[in-house]
Amino acid sequence: MEQIRTQVGIVGGGPAGLMLGHLLHLRGIRSFILEDRSEEHVIERVRAGVLEQSTVDLLHEVGLGDRLAREGLRHEGIYVAFGGERHRIPLAELTGGRAITIYGQNEVVRDLIDARAATAEPLRFEVDDVSIRDFDMQQPKIGFRHDGQRHELTCDFIAGCDGSRGICQPSIPASQVRIYERVYPFAWLGILVDAAPSSDELVYSLHERGFALFSMRSPHVTRLYLQVSPEEDIEQWPDERIWSELDLRLHTRDGWTPLRGPITQKGITRMRSVVVEPMDSGRLFLAGDAAHIVPPTGAKGLNLAMADVWRLAGALGKFYESGNETELRAYSERGLRRTWRAQRFSAWMTSALHRDNSDAFDQRRQRAELEYLVSSRAAMTSLAENYVGVEFD
Ligand code: FAD
Ligand code: DHB
Repeated sequence: MEQIRTQVGIVGGGPAGLMLGHLLHLRGIRSFILEDRSEEHVIERVRAGVLEQSTVDLLHEVGLGDRLAREGLRHEGIYVAFGGERHRIPLAELTGGRAITIYGQNEVVRDLIDARAATAEPLRFEVDDVSIRDFDMQQPKIGFRHDGQRHELTCDFIAGCDGSRGICQPSIPASQVRIYERVYPFAWLGILVDAAPSSDELVYSLHERGFALFSMRSPHVTRLYLQVSPEEDIEQWPDERIWSELDLRLHTRDGWTPLRGPITQKGITRMRSVVVEPMDSGRLFLAGDAAHIVPPTGAKGLNLAMADVWRLAGALGKFYESGNETELRAYSERGLRRTWRAQRFSAWMTSALHRDNSDAFDQRRQRAELEYLVSSRAAMTSLAENYVGVEFD
């Protein structure tokens, strides 16, 4: 078995693991990233698209802003639609100029992989049989297989950035963690379409048949989502059925509707909330979806992952500079504060905009909630400051 030594062993090469590796490199800290899928799979995976202001600022600060500046679409508002009307929420005006930027998660991942390749620091794709041990001791270990050979990585710290189905969080003894979970009775059917977006800004819509979301990836690609039941099978959704449901749910009285085009990707994602408390165990630190999952309505998942690794890299930097562990020990508490704030916001957005089996009273209350939202500057400001995101802390 080959023995390898590094400072920080990173399990998972999604946005959290790759960004952590980049931030550590900028501080002169060595890391080794292990990813169990192929490079193509990680780059092609269609997921998030909304970057908060602080995520955009971070990408610029760490030298990854060039393509983002050229190809990202800055949005200073969003629409909320119900009752056949679209209502604009002017995000930037309500938050002192903060906005969101549309830039696919896969583009962020592509930029991070390119940056990693330029450093020649290790990033191994298609590893398997990954396991971690001894993170309650000074020298934790990660075992893995690559190209048919077994390796053992000895580290000072392990970063568990392996997402919601990873091995790091389940490796913590159950008696040391508490897992909070909420399963929502909804899923999102998402499609990617080769068609110019027919609105400059996102449209979050509640219709009596359920939620629909109009989004985009570029001036030529539209991204659309439909609320469906979690048991729904994608095979039951031929293109024509998807389009007619989108038309029904998104069409507004001013005649607006999404432009159709060839559907290039489709999939169904179930919705749940998870919070793991604490986010660390000895010398193991969880970041991103390995530590928390939010329903997608608030567009917070990728952004929370970025906030985690920004904080973790800062704390590891302090440790290697001075031996001071204070920030590492505060990592979980600070992260959980941000996580619960995002859970609150995402759960609120989800309940305000999705149709469940609620009774007539709840449906009227939901309508009153949206009417209040779009008529009160205070309510719109509350949405706006959470949607564009508070500064990293
Ligand atoms: P992941 O991206 O899951 O990365 C974890 C990585 O670890 C993966 O590459 C995985 O292959 C790898 N891995 C797993 N197990 C192992 C192992 N044993 N060994 C080695 N590697 C392993 N968020 C937003 O902020 N805005 C949005 O608009 C948004 N929209 C979304 C829409 C959809 C349809 C979905 C599914 C998610 C959306 N999200 C959104 C959430 C966002 O995609 C995630 O929060 C984000 O991917 C988290 O990044 P991560 O690096 O923590 O986890
Ligand atoms: C997108 C995803 C989201 O979860 C969201 O709230 C807004 C937009 C998107 O993929 O474009």
